[in-house]
Amino acid sequence: MERDNLNTAPFFTPVQTGLQEVETLLHAQADDAHPDLRAAVEHLLTSGGKRIRPAVGLLTGQMLGAPHDKLLTLAAAVEMLHTATLVHDDLIDGALLRRGMPTLNAHWSPAATILTGDYMFARAAKLAAESDNLLLMKLFADTLATIVNGELTQLFAARGVISRENYSKRIYAKTASLFEMTTHAAAMVSPAKPAVVETMRLFGYHLGMAFQIVDDILDFTGEQETVGKPVGSDLLQGLVTLPAIYYAEAHPYDPDVLCLTGGCYTEHERMERLVQSIRESDATAKSMKEAQDFTEKALEILKKAPASMERQALEDLTGYIVNRSI
Ligand code: IPE
Ligand code: IPE
Ligand code: MG
Ligand code: MG
Repeated sequence: MERDNLNTAPFFTPVQTGLQEVETLLHAQADDAHPDLRAAVEHLLTSGGKRIRPAVGLLTGQMLGAPHDKLLTLAAAVEMLHTATLVHDDLIDGALLRRGMPTLNAHWSPAATILTGDYMFARAAKLAAESDNLLLMKLFADTLATIVNGELTQLFAARGVISRENYSKRIYAKTASLFEMTTHAAAMVSPAKPAVVETMRLFGYHLGMAFQIVDDILDFTGEQETVGKPVGSDLLQGLVTLPAIYYAEAHPYDPDVLCLTGGCYTEHERMERLVQSIRESDATAKSMKEAQDFTEKALEILKKAPASMERQALEDLTGYIVNRSI
């Protein structure tokens, strides 16, 4: 199946112009960099990311009457931060494919890859600073700290751990925190009352939790050509995500499950068999139900936001999160 193009998705319509301006802003960030660095950043920016986070930020802010220029820099900052985390994540995971294209680490040294990520983090911070909003900058820095702390916790402690609590904390740190920050910050730079700002923060949190659960499901159910990144890969790294948790709960004495908790995730054959068992079980359907619980909650929260075409678009986008195949 082809990787679908989101540019024409109805929920992008109210912010179509803004998203184009965000693209221009993103591309301008590498203007004065070393030619190789510039080429790498260009490669990343043109490789076909879905731009979900900037869309969510623009829709939220526009709905609440936030100043356009502040929203643009915020949306660009968030996407730049997201892209930087992917650069480092792929290096850490040894992933060779992203968005259907070779990753930087597939043909560059770790040093060059790390530095490119660092450069993008710096650019993201500068964009966030251009909001001239100290609270937003603090929020941005705290979110980056949360993401990094989560990744490090995962690196050191989460291998082979079958625990819902651990899982929830991990997906909050690596993904939901950024969605939460996006809607929170977009509302914060608007004239909305504190209660509405809090509503939008909560909306982003629930959307982000659902987003990562679906990402984790796609690791089991997706096709590499469609999702554009390696599939069946989380367990091979000892990362126990929701489908694996459901499977382990239902089959606690499956030798591969016992082996996983015993730390044998490095045995490829076993883990590939476990991935297959999970695919054939109802664990992914149960996980999807849990993702839907999060999006239903998100939709319920969103009802408190002002009725508008942007709110409608956010509702549609929320539905897309659980129906997507990339
Ligand atoms: C991938 O995010 C990383 C996760 C947090 C799951 P996306 O699925 O939004 O990636 P792109 O930007 O569209 O490639
Ligand atoms: C990545 O999560 C989240 C961050 C980059 C912080 P995943 O490891 O699940 O993302 P993919 O599946 O590689 O896109
Ligand atoms: Mg990864
Ligand atoms: Mg993933």
